[in-house]
Amino acid sequence: MSLPTAELNVLQQARLLTHKTPFFYTSKDVLRQNYETFTHLFDDVEVCYALKANSDPKVLTYLDSLGCSFEAASAYEVQILLDLGVEPARIVYGTSIKPAEQIKLAFDAGVKRYAADSREEIKKIADNAPGSKVFVRAIVEDAGSVFMMSERFGAPVDTVKDLVLYARHLDLKTYGISFYVGSQAAHANMWAKGVQAVKPIIEELHAEGVTLEILNIGGGFPVHYDTQEDIPELRQIVIDVHNALHGLPYMPKLLMEPGRGLVATSTVLVTEVIARNDRANKPWLCLDAGIYNALYEAMIHQGATRYPIHPFNPPTEPTENLSFTIAGPTGDSLDVVARDVSLPAYTDVGDVLIFEHTGAYTVTMASRFNGFPAPPLYIG
Ligand SMILES: Cc1ncc(COP(=O)(O)O)c(C=O)c1O
Repeated sequence: MSLPTAELNVLQQARLLTHKTPFFYTSKDVLRQNYETFTHLFDDVEVCYALKANSDPKVLTYLDSLGCSFEAASAYEVQILLDLGVEPARIVYGTSIKPAEQIKLAFDAGVKRYAADSREEIKKIADNAPGSKVFVRAIVEDAGSVFMMSERFGAPVDTVKDLVLYARHLDLKTYGISFYVGSQAAHANMWAKGVQAVKPIIEELHAEGVTLEILNIGGGFPVHYDTQEDIPELRQIVIDVHNALHGLPYMPKLLMEPGRGLVATSTVLVTEVIARNDRANKPWLCLDAGIYNALYEAMIHQGATRYPIHPFNPPTEPTENLSFTIAGPTGDSLDVVARDVSLPAYTDVGDVLIFEHTGAYTVTMASRFNGFPAPPLYIG
């Protein structure tokens, strides 16, 4: 498969392909541009891609070749990275609640950086990964993000200092503080507010002679799925974070854990219509990929992500459009991918549709419900 990639966007590139549907197609160009955007946001930042967003080996191998670091959520994800030859020094184990034996597995494999948000977890790390670097995850405001995490993860800000000191007490390295504003965050100032929340802790620890190596501002960077919606600009997020960092007694190295923001726009899903029918006087299209094997976040209670949808061969002349409901191939009522999608009225069985921005939380969330396998992912 050879593609004239440089000037073509991922959607145009996918149009040149003739694989059997359904399939994902990822553009290395877009991945590289996104990675470079993140690495250029701050002077000295370590970008640790959260591979829970997309752990396809081809995507990981390419990001590794660019020099990207990784945030793993389990020893299983650590193993995926090690099998691809990623240096353990470029991996952080970023989930703040971990099975003890998985900490040990990661430690034995050479991973030295761990998140924690409680004394119990810090003790677990001291027992299973002695002498490692620990960053304490603080709860910060995540209201407005599509996926909020603060109910399950993070330590109340007023306990973070004690946790850092407890890690030191157990001979762990007091590596830093992290926070996570939730996924698909809604406001540009959420990261700056996170920095403001933990700033006094950094100052107090400094006054007590404890210097932190890093400040981990997490992921959450949103993607422009729905063109009707405003999303925070990365440029504004960075300006706000810079302002918030101002006045610290010293500057810890910044670490980021983008998942969605790095991979979502790199990928399209190419699907085919397998049935068209009218239900309650409305036209429905049924596709060969759906919620369960490809588009989990489009499920009604999973954020109901609205991916931009286009016909594979756009009409060359003005044509009448209809508003369609689009469903997946399974026999389940929740397998409805999108409603009120405007497509050419003639769209019917055998026509191919492309879903944009499907690089994040798609392949990693796929199940074989009703037997339908996850679509393969091609990269070019
Ligand atoms: C600890 C941690 N870091 C990073 C991420 C990636 O988040 P996002 O895909 O929103 O950038 C997540 C997502 O759940 C997370 O839990």
